[in-house]
Amino acid sequence: MSLKLVCFFLCTLTAPDRTGEDALLPAPQNISILSTNMKHFLTWSPVIIQGEIVRYSVEFQGEYEREYANESWIPTCECSLITATVCNITEDISATVAYNLRVRAVVGARRSEWGTLKGFFNRITTSLTPPLMKVTADGYHLLVELEDMGPAFQFCVLYWKEGQESRMQQKVVKDVSSVVHLDTMEAGPDYCVKAQTYVEAINRSSDFSQTQCVRVQGGTSMWLVTALISSAGFAVKVSEPPTQLILRGSEEAERCDLMVHVVPSEEVLRLWIQETL
Ligand SMILES: *[C@@H]1O[C@H](CO)[C@@H](O)[C@H](O)[C@H]1NC(C)=O
Ligand SMILES: *[C@@H]1O[C@H](CO)[C@@H](O)[C@H](O)[C@H]1NC(C)=O
Ligand SMILES: *[C@@H]1O[C@H](CO)[C@@H](O)[C@H](O)[C@H]1NC(C)=O
Ligand SMILES: *[C@@H]1O[C@H](CO)[C@@H](O)[C@H](O)[C@H]1NC(C)=O
Repeated sequence: MSLKLVCFFLCTLTAPDRTGEDALLPAPQNISILSTNMKHFLTWSPVIIQGEIVRYSVEFQGEYEREYANESWIPTCECSLITATVCNITEDISATVAYNLRVRAVVGARRSEWGTLKGFFNRITTSLTPPLMKVTADGYHLLVELEDMGPAFQFCVLYWKEGQESRMQQKVVKDVSSVVHLDTMEAGPDYCVKAQTYVEAINRSSDFSQTQCVRVQGGTSMWLVTALISSAGFAVKVSEPPTQLILRGSEEAERCDLMVHVVPSEEVLRLWIQETL
């Protein structure tokens, strides 16, 4: 018997299994990834079976499983027999490598074939948004509060005195649990602040937030303000000492070298696809 015939024979033999139970359910379609700020979700279109509650199970395969573990798949613990058509895969995507993802529909003992994501997902393509921030003048103190976006996020904060944009200062903030003290201001000019996020795990930065400016209010003496702040027990966090940043050509950004590689997600995806193919 020729090889083709053997194959045909085997396939026909095994076919009843497949057409019997499995083929009753169509595989989920339109499988895609939504990834923003390092939070990743797999979504798919619902499989509609009249009068039945359809459940879904999701599995993933990282580079390791693909290359060193016999192409095995790992079930996600969060998305086993769920009724939602979205799965939070953030915990599963634990490395900056290419992942395969698949989902299948289940009704009782009946299961569908796996529907597989077209292409790979790499978290390096996540879209990063600028941080929400609140800049305040507390007496002579220039303070900034940043959104807590999770432990993976650092912030590069740039601040300057109005009219002295060429002498921007910078501060890298790694812990946003308290208000960050940026500078002591002089009365008169505006002080302006903008910030961007940086995620070390993927070596990428967001765009900058919109600039916010404040100035010293009223004429309270600095000593009084300091005394008030200490007595009120405010937790004003003084982070790493600022480094002077002269924005000129190649000297730009010794510390916040973060800010020179803002690449939009689509661009990262394009570059990444080029590299992997
Ligand atoms: C997939 O998405 C397209 C466009 O959103 C939609 O028209 C189509 O019905 C979806 N497929 C399924 C199986 O739901
Ligand atoms: C790899 O997977 C195939 C098919 O699932 C299986 O037959 C084989 O025994 C596996 N090999 C190892 C080393 O686990
Ligand atoms: C998704 O999972 C991550 C990690 O467990 C969690 O921080 C995040 O809040 C979850 N998001 C949603 C919308 O459930
Ligand atoms: C981060 O990316 C920049 C350029 O985009 C590169 O110069 C730098 O070496 C990278 N850093 C790491 C730790 O990969």
